[in-house]
Amino acid sequence: MTERKREHVDIVLDREVRPRHNYWDDVQFLHNAIPEVDLDEVDLRTDLFGKPLAAPIVISSMTGGFKDAVQINANLAHGAAEVGVAMGVGSQRQVLQGQAPEDSWTVLREYDIPLVIANIGAPQLVPQAGKDALGVEDAKRALEMVQGDILAIHMNYTQEIVQPEGDQRSRGVLKALGVIAAEVPVLGKETGAGISRDVALRLKEAGVQGIDIGGLGGTSFSAVEYYRAKKEGMRQKERLGQTFWEWGIPSPISLLLANVGLPLIATGGLRNGLDVARALALGGQAGGMASQMLRAANESAEAVVRALEEVVAEIKAVHLLTGCGSLAELAETRTIFTGPTREWAASLGLREG
Ligand SMILES: Cc1cc2nc3c(=O)[nH]c(=O)nc-3n(C[C@H](O)[C@H](O)[C@H](O)COP(=O)(O)O)c2cc1C
Repeated sequence: MTERKREHVDIVLDREVRPRHNYWDDVQFLHNAIPEVDLDEVDLRTDLFGKPLAAPIVISSMTGGFKDAVQINANLAHGAAEVGVAMGVGSQRQVLQGQAPEDSWTVLREYDIPLVIANIGAPQLVPQAGKDALGVEDAKRALEMVQGDILAIHMNYTQEIVQPEGDQRSRGVLKALGVIAAEVPVLGKETGAGISRDVALRLKEAGVQGIDIGGLGGTSFSAVEYYRAKKEGMRQKERLGQTFWEWGIPSPISLLLANVGLPLIATGGLRNGLDVARALALGGQAGGMASQMLRAANESAEAVVRALEEVVAEIKAVHLLTGCGSLAELAETRTIFTGPTREWAASLGLREG
C-alpha cells in the first residue's frame, strides 16, 4: 500500500500523465491596454471555509504514508504557511486502517497553515472486497491527525477501474458521505474527471460545504495507473488505462456546471497564476495545484515558497492586464472560450464565460 503511494509520486514526476489537451488554454481574457489599476493595490486576500488566505490558492491533496512523504509534506506545509495558502494531504485511508505510520500527516501540525484539508476516498465509505468501510469516527480521526479544518472526500472511480487493486463498488457511497457530512465539514472532491451539475446537486443535498471540481486537463489517474498495470503485466488494466486516459469533464466546463451555490475549488491542469486567474473568472473561489507543487516539494521547502510566489505574481499580473483592482472584479470579468472548451460549452448550452 505505502509502495503504491511512492509509485504514484515517482510516476507523476517522471512520466507523461496528462491528457493531450489542457483546457485552460481555451479560456482567454480580453487585454486592457489602459488598466487604470496599480499593481501594488491588488489584494489577493480571501476567505475559504471561514479561514483567511493571503491568496486564493490550494496545494491539492497528494501524498503520505512512506518515508520520503514526510519531507514532501513538510516542504509543502512550509510553503503553505509561509505564503498563507491552503493545503490538502493525500488519502489517509492507509493510516486509518493501520497500514502506514502517521508521521507524514502529523508533520503538518508543526506549521501554521491557514486552511488544512484532510482526505479520505469515497469508494472506501462502503465495504470493498475484504475491507471494512470507513465511517464517522475515521473521519474525525483523519481531521484530528492533521488538525484539519475540512475533510475532502475524493471521488476517483476513473483511477479505481484501472488500478490493479482498485475498489469498484459504489452503491451506498452518497448516503455514507451524507452521514459523515452531518458530523464534520466535508469537501466533495474529484481527482481528474470533473463534477457534473447532477453530481454537484447531489453532493449539496448530501450536506457538503464545498466542491473541488478536480476536472480533466491535468494529472490523469488512468494514466498513472496505466504505468503501474503495465509494470505488473496486467494487460486488461493497462488497456483500460489507455482507453480512459482522456476521460472526464474539462476543468473549465466542470467549474461552470458545478456552480450550485457552494464554494468551488478549481483543480485539474492548473500550471500557473494565469490558469488560477482563469478559474477565478469562471466562478472558482480558489485554484488548486497538485503536480506543479509536487515538483517543487521534491526539490526543497524554498522551492515551494518560490513556486507559490510566482503563482501569486502571475495572478496579480492578470489583474493589472485586465484592469481588475480586486478579486471581486476579476470574478466578473469577461472571458472568451476557444477550441474544444468552446464546443463543450456550446453543446451543453453554457455561457461562454
Ligand atoms: C502524486 C499525486 C497523488 C495524489 N493523491 C491524491 C489523494 O490521495 N487524494 C486526492 O483527493 N487527490 C489526490 N491527487 C489528485 C490531486 O489532488 C488533483 O486533484 C489532481 O492531481 C489534479 O491536479 P493537477 O493537474 O494540478 O495535478 C493526487 C495527485 C498527485 C499528483
